[in-house]
Amino acid sequence: MVYLDHAATTPMLPEAIEAMTAALAVVGNPSSIHSAGQQAKRLLEESRERIAATLGVDGIEIVFTGNGTEAVNLAIKGLWWQRRGAGGADRSRILVPAGEHHATIDTVDWLAEHEGAEIVEIPLDEVGRVRLDVLAAELADAETVALVTMLWANNEVGTIQPVEEVARLAARAGVPLHVDAIAAYGQVPIDVRALRRATEAPRGAGLVALSVSAHKIGGPAGIGALVLDRSAAVEPLIHGGGQQRKVRSGTQDVAAAAAFAAAAEIVAARLDDDATRMAGLRDRLIAGVVEAVPTARLSGDAGPGASARLPGNVHFSFPGCEGDSLLFLLDAAGVAVSTGSACQAGVPEPSHVLMAMGRSESDARGALRITLGHASTEADVDAFLAALPAAHAQAAKAGLAGRATSFDR
Ligand SMILES: Cc1ncc(COP(=O)(O)O)c(C=O)c1O
Repeated sequence: MVYLDHAATTPMLPEAIEAMTAALAVVGNPSSIHSAGQQAKRLLEESRERIAATLGVDGIEIVFTGNGTEAVNLAIKGLWWQRRGAGGADRSRILVPAGEHHATIDTVDWLAEHEGAEIVEIPLDEVGRVRLDVLAAELADAETVALVTMLWANNEVGTIQPVEEVARLAARAGVPLHVDAIAAYGQVPIDVRALRRATEAPRGAGLVALSVSAHKIGGPAGIGALVLDRSAAVEPLIHGGGQQRKVRSGTQDVAAAAAFAAAAEIVAARLDDDATRMAGLRDRLIAGVVEAVPTARLSGDAGPGASARLPGNVHFSFPGCEGDSLLFLLDAAGVAVSTGSACQAGVPEPSHVLMAMGRSESDARGALRITLGHASTEADVDAFLAALPAAHAQAAKAGLAGRATSFDR
């Protein structure tokens, strides 16, 4: 099997497996006072510090969660509940770009439905970048804004957002910003402290919260983290033993944290080399698809050097084909890729990201996401390119037949 779906999850690094296996043998609850507990606590806190160093923050600012989705929920709901009525204000607006991950979309929709939040959707341009002019205009009425939340990089089309500009706008408006960096972590440099400094963020405003997830960088599934600036407060979602600054109660997973730290350190150390290597493979893949299927349309940033595109992301629409047909045909040929978009109750949905970028429903249905990881090779790219023409021809035939059937009706 050629695996080209690293954005969904990427294999654990051997060093992470080793760290996790060793840590599983450590006895003790890190909250216990005795020496066994303290040994577990040492390992946990060391891991927290090591992860923090890869994100430019201190260990105390890392809140471990059960996954990336929980980190996003904690940031958005936690900031919203904290800010909504603080100081007698009425801050019920959440500014959120179109085309976000469902962890964000479903969270803000829930707040709108159950808690009276007003969601203000900021449009995207044609490559998937947030419209800064619209965001700035909405922030003019800063007193009514609870928070801004945004992806660092889009998990479907790989577009890297102008995070520094958004953080600066939020800082100037005195509004907190949460960034979902789950797709970006390990592929682009992230330095939260430097970004706060560069954007002159006051206490509690600008970039204050950032979500990451271990299984996207070669760590285990089942652990994520919310980077929460010291100056920011969130309402906890889980109550109990008061662990982690009372922000996220519950006994912490020492072994998963140790494995997360091992992966984070390796990925950070190799970031520049890996990004250059992956971008080379990405561009080879893009050129190969354009040659094999001239009607295919690349989504996201295709500018010189594609500087606003994640180095591991390729995303094409194949007009006249269903993305799902292509996915199944390629899978049968031994190549694992993704449509990038969600299914609702088993029915494939057109990509909401492409729709937000102004693309047609047919483009949004015929999308395929091919994502590279640290272990991807030229041979993987070539295997995909070898399997594509036959899969495309068959999917196009099925697409035509589908249209004929719907005319007949
Ligand atoms: C951008 C983005 N946000 C959130 C998530 C959810 O993370 P997790 O799978 O760790 O819950 C993902 C994973 O697909 C993602 O890509």
